[in-house]
Amino acid sequence: MLKISVLVSGGGTNLQALINAQNSGILSSGKIIQVISNNRNAYALERAKLAHIPAEFAETEDDILTLLAKAEPDIVVLAGFMHILSRHFLDNCRAKIINVHPSLVPSFCGKGFYGLKVHEAVLRAGVKVTGATVHLVNEIPDGGEIIAQKSVDVLPNDTPETLQRRVMERAEWVILPRAVEDLCRKLSPRIFPAPIKYPGRGIITGLTPSGQKMLAYFIMGRSPSSKARIFERSGDDLIIKLTNNDKNFDSSLILYAPLRVIGKNIIVTNGDQTDTIYDALKDGGTFEDALRTREYEPDAPHYTPRISAIITETGHKQSILKRAGRYFYEYDFVPGKGRLIHTYDHDVMRDDVLPSFMGEPREVNISDDIDTFADNLWEELGESYRVALYVRYYDGEKYHDRLFNTQCVN
Ligand code: GAR
Repeated sequence: MLKISVLVSGGGTNLQALINAQNSGILSSGKIIQVISNNRNAYALERAKLAHIPAEFAETEDDILTLLAKAEPDIVVLAGFMHILSRHFLDNCRAKIINVHPSLVPSFCGKGFYGLKVHEAVLRAGVKVTGATVHLVNEIPDGGEIIAQKSVDVLPNDTPETLQRRVMERAEWVILPRAVEDLCRKLSPRIFPAPIKYPGRGIITGLTPSGQKMLAYFIMGRSPSSKARIFERSGDDLIIKLTNNDKNFDSSLILYAPLRVIGKNIIVTNGDQTDTIYDALKDGGTFEDALRTREYEPDAPHYTPRISAIITETGHKQSILKRAGRYFYEYDFVPGKGRLIHTYDHDVMRDDVLPSFMGEPREVNISDDIDTFADNLWEELGESYRVALYVRYYDGEKYHDRLFNTQCVN
């Protein structure tokens, strides 16, 4: 979840639109964590307090920068903020800054065009259409890249006040929350560096920035039988269940225990090699020894790789068994970093054969917020083929987990 700070000066109806969007779910990829007003008497401060959002008055740009530095937002939204930010401010604010302006930029904008003055100028000019713009903020007032616009008719009997109200209701309060949500999604840390349609099954193991061990396991499917599966918790382990009653197919490759806990170790794999590793460890053997007794899946023509991982007290290991050979990787824990391995390399199929994952498990960034991480991964898997995802963060004995299934649990 990205962090949003909102800068205000007045009534705060745009802030209210953002709060309402947060409550209704339109704004779900970011959270308003701070409201700052450069006007001590702004009603916007009251709105923030009513919504239990920390709200403060700050007189100067430097005071605002100090408050922002404490909260470390990813995005700063200027929502009716009546001050042109200096070069010094822009250079020292690390967040992306966006502004909502009550006209169709590049008309009726820039220095001197703010609040009601914009609508007075629109009426004086006699234009028949106006609207609102959300744009990135740079050193040119209202001059940054346009993100969203919406037009609104100017009516014959409009006063600046009636026009302002209509522009707010029909344009600003609509486009601002959507633009903030879109920007949050765009800035959310990606797990796959580029969109990939069918990575197949995948494992991530690693450490969160604050030092929790973590794992994720996802399955995707193309055939109806592969799609008709769900993950279910079974004590500290994870199991897979079929959601249809069709027993007339070989389920040996799609029904297995993907996650088993043994002592302080967690094993995660995409097949029944979980049990092979578990049994070996129980008898004093190793992850590597166990996997040397196994090979890739017999599902010609793909020969899907068997991917496996183990998290121990001191580090994490991953392995892939494919036609080209058996590969083992061993990693120390690095705060905020994980490794991702998946069965298929990319979307291009040669002769209808899915190419195996190539190269070393990829380094990925792990967020401290399990919901941000799990939501992003689920979203990146895409609606067409994702079947189930399990994410666990743990520290000592306690763990937090998230489980997503595409199919309804009967
Ligand atoms: C809004 O119309 C906003 O677009 C405008 O001031 C009004 C503030 O209302 N902002 C500017 O003119 C910035 N150049 P609010 O305080 O009720 O959101």
